[in-house]
Amino acid sequence: MTDTSSKYEMHEHDVIVIGAGGAGLRAAIECSAQGAKTALICKSLLGKAHTVMAEGGIAAALAHLDEQDNWQTHFQDTLFGGKYLNNWRMAQLHAQEAPERVRELERWGAVFDRTPEGKIMQRAFGGHTWRRLAHVGDRTGLELIRTLQDKGVHQGIDVFMECTITRLLKDGPRVCGAFGYWRQTGRFVVFQAKAVVLATGGIGKCFKITSNSWESTGDGHALAYQAGAQLVDMEFMQFHPTGMVWPPGVMGLLVTEAVRGEGGILRNNQGQRFMEKYDPKRMELSTRDVVARAIYTEVKEGRGSPHGGCFLDISHRGAETIKRKLPSMYHQFKELADVDITKEPMEVGPTAHYTMGGIKVDADTGASGVPGLYAAGECTGGVNGANRLGGNSLSDLIVFGQRAGAGAAAYASQAAAPRLDQEQVEAAAREMTSYFGRPNAEDPYRLHLDLQNTMQNLVGIFREEKDLTTALARLEEFKQRAAKVGVVEGQRIYNPGWHLCRDLSNMLICAEAITRAARWRKESRGAHSRLDFPQYDDYFGEHNLVVQNDGGVMKVEPCPVVKVPELIPLVEQRKAREKK
Ligand code: FUM
Repeated sequence: MTDTSSKYEMHEHDVIVIGAGGAGLRAAIECSAQGAKTALICKSLLGKAHTVMAEGGIAAALAHLDEQDNWQTHFQDTLFGGKYLNNWRMAQLHAQEAPERVRELERWGAVFDRTPEGKIMQRAFGGHTWRRLAHVGDRTGLELIRTLQDKGVHQGIDVFMECTITRLLKDGPRVCGAFGYWRQTGRFVVFQAKAVVLATGGIGKCFKITSNSWESTGDGHALAYQAGAQLVDMEFMQFHPTGMVWPPGVMGLLVTEAVRGEGGILRNNQGQRFMEKYDPKRMELSTRDVVARAIYTEVKEGRGSPHGGCFLDISHRGAETIKRKLPSMYHQFKELADVDITKEPMEVGPTAHYTMGGIKVDADTGASGVPGLYAAGECTGGVNGANRLGGNSLSDLIVFGQRAGAGAAAYASQAAAPRLDQEQVEAAAREMTSYFGRPNAEDPYRLHLDLQNTMQNLVGIFREEKDLTTALARLEEFKQRAAKVGVVEGQRIYNPGWHLCRDLSNMLICAEAITRAARWRKESRGAHSRLDFPQYDDYFGEHNLVVQNDGGVMKVEPCPVVKVPELIPLVEQRKAREKK
């Protein structure tokens, strides 16, 4: 067999980080700061990541506006939001370390909005007891990415853009690199590394209506699953309550929660402020699962807006405040929908935004169960439990990005040089070329649409046994069709149809994991609502569900929630408060 190094473009590093959103960038910065030769590989152009869709802020108990705030309350809020299924240790580290990670961003050049005294400004968001979200207008994720990118590039990280990784390579039980292709040329590339950090974000493209863009196809989830890692909490998919519903070309595009954080009011077509019915205490700042279900219910019962959503009104705050606090929303609605939000309400509805489920990792190091494989950010599960609070994503990215980077660098510093298995590389190359020249090939776009419709309609905001069973049967059929997808026209040079052929297999793994776990969880909790099991069940309240590849068969198993004994009093205190 031809030597891999002479046949394919090869790169050698101590650590490769796959994904360049907030978590990937922060992980790569940490690896390189620890002295590891680090590569950052991204499917898109650097700076284009779903991180920018966390617009309204980054949750950290800085206590700049509300002095009572502290990490303990942030921890309690996160567990309350996650319906106590969170990995407690992750939630603890997240709440404790978010303030320092935010201050670090500021030192690295992030320009936050300020209080009159010059401190970082914070705003209210759903489920947070205090005003906790540090922000930059409604462009916080963008500023976070800009800052980390600047820091990372100047630190000497090797950046590989527009490169899709299709397979992790293994040397016995440990990972030893990755195989991928350049999106522009279609040429193959092999990365050899002692450790790999996955930071590939979410899986929103499994659904029809989503705030996610084309990159979010569950690549890290699928790569880890195929390499033998476990996935956890896959049944919990977050539908952000407010996406655009009109015009059709921008359906699902995010309307930041900051609109409600700044006082936005939700109304139905009868002018009723309907959140009074669903959560009179928190109203529009209830947790996302509750608000999304409320909007969905209003629409289903005939009280929706003309284009199948509801109305979100911020006009009472006045044009000057709106343009200063929510500049992107002002322009987004003016340019895309011809709506002036300083004068009229927006039409909004739920959009698939974020997955709570992902790779099961060690809280302190980001290590998965596969030696040398680390993960951080949205592609991991644990910190958010059954539902994530808005703003906890940006803080999750930098807290656990830093930790996974440190974990991977430490592993790489003591690991022996890995050996590449040429047969694995050849198999990965064959997989990619197999999409060409298939007679009567399936159209990948058609299959993608069918998958999205199935997930949207049968595994969406409300679920029930018969729908989930139908969805699983369809997913089996889709897998058969996926084995026949192919490229009818064009070559490997920039060919999005070819890229989609491969992305589909990742999406199908994620869709199946979500559906199987959703069928297993016979209760309603957080973002998982079963019409046939509408109540909490005590057994499920103590267990997460873990999805694993068992010799080619997807297996779901319960495992006890990770608790931290010394935090029990804090949790009990919060539960008692909710009962009042
Ligand atoms: O609504 C938003 O700005 C999104 C924030 C988040 O998902 O954390």
